[in-house]
Amino acid sequence: MLITGGAGFVGSNLALRLLAAGADVTVVDSLIPEYGGNLFNLAPAGSAVRLNVSDVRDPFSLQQLVAGQDFLFNLAGQNSHLDAMEDPATDLDINCRAQLSILEACRRVNPEVRVVFASTRQIYGRPRYLPVDEAHPLHPVDVNGIHKLAGEAYHLLYARVYGLRACSLRLTNTIGPRMRIKDARQTFVGSWIRALLEGRPIEVWGGRQLRDLNDVEDVVDAFLLAAQSPAAIGQAYNLGADPPISLQALAEMMIELHGRGEYRIREFPENRARIDIGDYHGSFAAIRAELGWTPRHSLRETLQRTLGYFAANLAHYV
Ligand SMILES: NC(=O)c1ccc[n+]([C@@H]2O[C@H](COP(=O)([O-])OP(=O)(O)OC[C@H]3O[C@@H](n4cnc5c(N)ncnc54)[C@H](O)[C@@H]3O)[C@@H](O)[C@H]2O)c1
Repeated sequence: MLITGGAGFVGSNLALRLLAAGADVTVVDSLIPEYGGNLFNLAPAGSAVRLNVSDVRDPFSLQQLVAGQDFLFNLAGQNSHLDAMEDPATDLDINCRAQLSILEACRRVNPEVRVVFASTRQIYGRPRYLPVDEAHPLHPVDVNGIHKLAGEAYHLLYARVYGLRACSLRLTNTIGPRMRIKDARQTFVGSWIRALLEGRPIEVWGGRQLRDLNDVEDVVDAFLLAAQSPAAIGQAYNLGADPPISLQALAEMMIELHGRGEYRIREFPENRARIDIGDYHGSFAAIRAELGWTPRHSLRETLQRTLGYFAANLAHYV
């Protein structure tokens, strides 16, 4: 099986789980420093994982990589919303053009492959109602959201028109070992973890906004279920967690679990406020009903494990 973006946060956790189950795993990752790829993420795999350092924007290497695979977990992406606003063309190339090349490679050289695409709750934009289900209108508030929406739409189109066995998971904020904590490019929680471990106050912008957070192990479960279930083909499913939590309460929980630390409430910086979505809470009723997925880990347990991981491995992530 092939995992694009497999040296990143979710991809490496998926790769490690598949390897532990005895799968033959190839990871393709460009390891561009600004993104979430980190070779240390795959260190526990040793030589069991095949790592191909290449860029999904290169259609020729992709065609070779896709050939002969049973499963393609398509997770490579540019995830920073602010970077996408500053440099929309790069975001377009990675999150749209490259996605089309990947699908074309599947159609040409491996039409039987099962594909699971990593989409995002960001494609809904500012929620009109909560919890947000899959019937909610799609109105992304930033360039990255528009491109991820197109990336997902290509996958579903190829399923409909060419019979490609593809589906999409709309991830919400995901946390766990191997996430990017260097900065807030992946999620604000990463920069909060770093601040706590380095003894700096957590900066909370606003504070009352609601979010739901998934443990990366639960997200890996969803990828595995989606890849194996015939019912998932052609579908897009929300992931999510109950209950949602305010950012302020999340900061307080993290400080309590860490045993020390403080947070400061700040006004939203202007460039963030313009693309913020307000409250978000996703409904995962569809994937629960159709694939039997439900999150298994509590937020407290996930935060505890994540803080422990980064306390032990901080030097590899900052
Ligand atoms: N982590 C979350 O909270 C979250 C939420 C919603 C959606 N997602 C989606 O899940 C996927 C994985 O996210 P993640 O959190 O693991 O991010 P990540 O940044 O840790 O992983 C993405 C990986 O893709 C690689 N990559 C980027 N551009 C590439 C290119 N051109 N060619 C090859 N590799 C490239 C990066 O090096 C990185 O290792 C992304 O597509 C993202 O949009 C994640």
